[in-house]
Amino acid sequence: MTSPQPYLAQMPVRGRIQRMQPRGLPIVNLGYNELPHGPSPAVRAALADAGTHANRYGSPFADGLRADLGARFGLDPDRIICGNGSEDLLDVIARVFARPGDEVLIPTFGYIQFALVANRQGATLVKAAERDLTTDPAALLAAVTPLTRVLFLANPNNPTGTMLSVPALEALVDAIPGHVVVVLDLAYGEFAGEGYCDAVHRLADARDNVVVTRTFSKAYGLAGVRVGWACAPAWMVPHLYAARAMGPVNALAQNAARVALAETDLLQARIEEVVSERARVTGVLTQYGVEVTPSHTNFLLVRPAGDDPARTEALVEYLFSEAGIVVNRTREAGLESWLRFSLGLPAQNDLLLDTVARFLENA
Ligand SMILES: Cc1ncc(COP(=O)(O)O)c(C=O)c1O
Repeated sequence: MTSPQPYLAQMPVRGRIQRMQPRGLPIVNLGYNELPHGPSPAVRAALADAGTHANRYGSPFADGLRADLGARFGLDPDRIICGNGSEDLLDVIARVFARPGDEVLIPTFGYIQFALVANRQGATLVKAAERDLTTDPAALLAAVTPLTRVLFLANPNNPTGTMLSVPALEALVDAIPGHVVVVLDLAYGEFAGEGYCDAVHRLADARDNVVVTRTFSKAYGLAGVRVGWACAPAWMVPHLYAARAMGPVNALAQNAARVALAETDLLQARIEEVVSERARVTGVLTQYGVEVTPSHTNFLLVRPAGDDPARTEALVEYLFSEAGIVVNRTREAGLESWLRFSLGLPAQNDLLLDTVARFLENA
């Protein structure tokens, strides 16, 4: 062997927005499932305050944040582990449980990072069929083998926006053999209805093989700060720390997350805005004849009538060139005629709806 041999294939480095907007319009980025609101004044102050002590490391175990999370959600802080976004923790879990020869199980349209995580571990990815773009518990169960080590399941899921009810999840978790670690990703759980996250924590609490992951990136609007956390069975936590970097959550992020966690009224108001805009935009698009998957998140997965990827591509292009709107074109096998966009501010959503209407009139 004459040159270093990488285990991983290349990953292209992509700019967030690769092209100039042809009319010089401001970019409205609805491609990343982010919240449209900037951080609150208190969160900005927390970032600035922590910045004045940036010569010091933050708490490597995010002790204060874990204590706050435990108090807020009725969880044992010793079972909580924080990460650099929840994506970090997905990798951490896979590092502990999956190696080449092991199987990582996901639903066909499960969150794309699950596949990337499995690939980074050299594990075999197994995809179970879905029904109506929704996880099919029976198909997942049928796909479990003695080699299955981890089941990753996002509820609600990205990019589909669909989810399993708590009873359905409970039945699934009960039926999954005990050798499988079940990761219940609640990145969008706050948008899934009052009490959904709490109920998922309660069902995980009683089990030794279930991990719940959550994030400050979505409902809390702190995607750029990068804080995620997991609540794992007590026995598993030291293993997770063994697989995690020492200080992945920087001091500024810890401070910002603690303040954001305390702003419960603001969180509630933002969730309500998303839920109301979700219903409104879904209603208008449906009237236009656009197909919309039933979303429990802050984004919608939609397709123009006709199941025609070329028409979807034309709409994506039209939204960008006419209005500066960037959406996510998943291009995943089986989703070629769909596009996904986050719900923005009401005025941004209006712009999107008007632009879609013009596209449908003209095309
Ligand atoms: C389903 C799901 N899980 C996890 C994440 C990771 O989010 P973060 O690393 O920002 O916490 C995302 C981000 O889009 C997601 O869609």
